[in-house]
Amino acid sequence: MRVLGIAGSPRRGGNTDLLLAEVMKGAAAEGAEVKTIVLNDLDMIPCQHCDACFEAGVCKIKDDMQMIYRELEKADRIVLASPVHFMGVSAQAKIMIDRCQALWARKYILKVPPLGDRRPRKGLFIAVGGMKLANLFEPSLAIVKALFKVLDIEYSGDLLFPGVDQKGAIKNHPGALKQAFLAGQKLVAE
Ligand SMILES: Cc1cc2nc3c(=O)[nH]c(=O)nc-3n(C[C@H](O)[C@H](O)[C@H](O)COP(=O)(O)O)c2cc1C
Repeated sequence: MRVLGIAGSPRRGGNTDLLLAEVMKGAAAEGAEVKTIVLNDLDMIPCQHCDACFEAGVCKIKDDMQMIYRELEKADRIVLASPVHFMGVSAQAKIMIDRCQALWARKYILKVPPLGDRRPRKGLFIAVGGMKLANLFEPSLAIVKALFKVLDIEYSGDLLFPGVDQKGAIKNHPGALKQAFLAGQKLVAE
């Protein structure tokens, strides 16, 4: 069982990073092989809508997204973590998501499995926002659910924390890190 963590925050050691690390620890405690990718460290440009991927489901832009395609294909579980930025996912996360258009092309144009095989994959979404709005996570949820659906990844759940703003403030949230560890265990065990 391979679990791929995708860190979407520009803030290293920030709130979503801390939650993601706990999820990955929980997954590892269940015996999973875990790997975390930090999007902010990568060299990736946004989708250029060239439609080149319609030919063979392969993106012609040769940057670090090519590594992410391979990691997504290998993973059984995907954990995507993003802070709320202007009511949506971070730009780092959105660039990666839009580059999954090549995987959309595999599925809907070429009629092949978007991640190369039909093994059951599951995904977990982690988000943190500074405000306490009722609909704070709705836009991010719509985006991530659309991504998982296109990639044939079953949406297994989420960890959503509003009202957490300062770097590391999630540590003061009662039970959040424990909840994340348990979610990582459950993701692998289920
Ligand atoms: C560019 C930017 C935009 C943000 N937009 C929002 C927002 O729309 N709503 C919100 O609740 N918090 C917003 N925040 C606050 C972050 O979501 C919050 O600080 C969060 O804890 C950051 O998580 P991180 O430490 O994992 O980066 C924004 C922060 C930045 C830097």
